[in-house]
Amino acid sequence: MTPVKARPPAFSQHEFRAALGMFATGVTIVTARNAAGGLVGLTANSFNSVSLAPPLVLWSLSRQAGSMAAFSTGSHYAINILAADQKLLADRFALRGADRFADVVFTEGAGGAPLLARRRRHV
Ligand SMILES: Cc1cc2nc3c(=O)[nH]c(=O)nc-3n(C[C@H](O)[C@H](O)[C@H](O)COP(=O)(O)O)c2cc1C
Repeated sequence: MTPVKARPPAFSQHEFRAALGMFATGVTIVTARNAAGGLVGLTANSFNSVSLAPPLVLWSLSRQAGSMAAFSTGSHYAINILAADQKLLADRFALRGADRFADVVFTEGAGGAPLLARRRRHV
């Protein structure tokens, strides 16, 4: 059978983004350690529950993400669910080149994955 090719969209990337932005979701920061033990984390709203038994969640990572190597080869990650007043933290963890963990208080979870403390003095 001949594969059906998707037609190019009749809308701009800007319009698509605006449409997706109308869907409210929770926002998380997914954290881990890279192979050298360095801190890794990014803002992600693709987090979702999948199953209670077995206990499964999912989230999606862009192929272009600088953290792809750490997440694809690492053993553990942590999902930090943000509160409404942590927007600045979400913005920082989505920004390339930012010192994401500066002044961020955390403890270590399984595999050393950072568990962000829920503190008001967070940015
Ligand atoms: C609200 C919000 C949600 C995001 N959700 C995702 C996501 O689910 N998956 C993803 O790969 N990137 C997502 N991003 C973009 C990443 O946070 C951003 O590209 C990433 O931090 C780039 O850094 P990295 O390349 O070091 O991972 C989101 C950004 C924002 C602001």
